Amino acid sequence: MDNPLGRLRLGVNIDHVATVRNARGGAYPDPLRAALLAEKAGADGITAHLREDRRHITDPDIERLAKNLTVPLNFEMAATPEMQAIALRHVPHAVCIVPEKREEKTTEGGLEVAKQENQLAHFIAPLRDAGCRVSMFIAADMKQVEASARIGAQVVELHTGAYCDAVTEGDRSAADRELAALRDMSAYAHELGLEVHAGHGITYDTVKPIAAFPEVMELNIGHFLIGEAIFSGLDSAIRRMRALMDEARNEAFGEGVA
Ligand code: PXP
Repeated sequence: MDNPLGRLRLGVNIDHVATVRNARGGAYPDPLRAALLAEKAGADGITAHLREDRRHITDPDIERLAKNLTVPLNFEMAATPEMQAIALRHVPHAVCIVPEKREEKTTEGGLEVAKQENQLAHFIAPLRDAGCRVSMFIAADMKQVEASARIGAQVVELHTGAYCDAVTEGDRSAADRELAALRDMSAYAHELGLEVHAGHGITYDTVKPIAAFPEVMELNIGHFLIGEAIFSGLDSAIRRMRALMDEARNEAFGEGVA
């Protein structure tokens, strides 16, 4: 039986190719080269986060990605006027609005949509009008899902970090709790008419239970794949992740279905 809701896409986040490049301040490794390789390995989209402090991806990276990719670009950004202007200049296929703190190592939690509904509704309207699919990166929390639907976002990306951390730490009960919240909120967001994506911290060990949720249409995965590329190469790391996603889908919905 096919998953009636559709095929699961893999978005590859190439931020940390730029992290390695920037450690020396030179031109390599080149995130665009990694993105083009990811396309060949089966990525359905490329994700890049232009942070306010430009710690990894830079403005020229975004320009080159927007110009050269043949798969959709998912532009991750904070809800600031500067980022809005950049997004409106490039009009990427998708924008994902994320919370951003200068002192954090990575995007720590989901966006607080419920407490800034009006502000975010005004912020995303021009992006939607320009033709970008607007996604809100949120915790698996009913209030945030409902607020995302009310402000007119087309997509929510559920933060999988807490689930992945619990698995890594061997905390079975926390992992079960987080996974149940992700399952429930995937179903609820779908019911409200939102497309459901998921991401953050996903590894070979954590991908399958998330990939098995029928409402999840896209996984965005970066740090683990770039790390794994050191050992097996990026092409092989992406193909293995894709194979695990397909396995999870096939186990849930029958053979031959991704
Ligand atoms: N999705 C979003 C919205 C993110 O901010 C990130 C991290 O940049 C990811 C997915 C990918 O997370 P990771 O690099 O841990 O796989």
